Amino acid sequence: MRTVYLNGQFIAENDAKISIFDRGFMFADGIYEVTAVLGGKLVDAEPHLARLRRSLAELALVLPLDDDALLAVHRQLIARNALCEGLVYMQVSRGAADRDFLYPPADTPLTVALFTQDKAVLDSPLAKRGMNIIGLPDMRWGRSDIKTTQLLYACMTKEQAKARGADDAWLVKDGWVTEGTSNNAFIITRDGAVVTRELSRALLPGITRGALLALVQEHGLQLDERAFTLEEVKNAAEAFVTSSTSFIYPVVTLNGQPIGDGTPGPLTQRLRRLYIDHALAGSV
Ligand code: PDD
Repeated sequence: MRTVYLNGQFIAENDAKISIFDRGFMFADGIYEVTAVLGGKLVDAEPHLARLRRSLAELALVLPLDDDALLAVHRQLIARNALCEGLVYMQVSRGAADRDFLYPPADTPLTVALFTQDKAVLDSPLAKRGMNIIGLPDMRWGRSDIKTTQLLYACMTKEQAKARGADDAWLVKDGWVTEGTSNNAFIITRDGAVVTRELSRALLPGITRGALLALVQEHGLQLDERAFTLEEVKNAAEAFVTSSTSFIYPVVTLNGQPIGDGTPGPLTQRLRRLYIDHALAGSV
């Protein structure tokens, strides 16, 4: 049984209880982070904490724990669960209060919960075989840049992808791909440019995306931060996604049609290796 963290305590997962009045439960009034763990260490910890701060600020949540304390909780949890490879999930909600759309008084204690999950991040079947994706309309709210726990539409689209025999969906708004259900979307054009949509309120500023873009530039590859259409995906040489739980997964088909030659592309595989080297070197 795992040891989890809830509101200042490390306890057995079966003993961790949250009120039915918790606003995370009633309104999805909360934010979260997912940080990968390799060799018992956190990958890209600093930018994850920075994005957590941004999410908290956007929702006017005031967390009485500084970055050092949060890092210490993450590390304790990894140690107590002897986690070698996988992830740490952290969620902060506005806490328990009588049901009211208005925020409760500012002194209402937030709910802070963390748990670990075992996952083979490096040796993943999807990294080898690549993902089959479908295009679906992006019907999420207008602040997809905030990492809130309001993920129902992502769950619905992933279910739909599964029902159609695919692994995942890329979401399309006004004719342009925004991102995947739980990852950022990339294509590589036939002339070798790495293309991903520029940041805005329409997509999550992925930490893996940010780290990869720095690597792309460092290695002198051509980078084009702009929106693209499904038509461009169909005609691309390669495609892939980035996220903390996948790092980089190739995307090999769109709506049943092969992208490039329909196998994981060489530049995608090189970028995955570069990202893994970066992750191993920078983990803390
Ligand atoms: N999802 N876009 C969306 C909508 C996401 O949910 C995620 C991450 C990403 C990639 O962000 P990052 O590189 O920081 O993980 C992009 C996490 C892994 C999840 O919800 O489990």
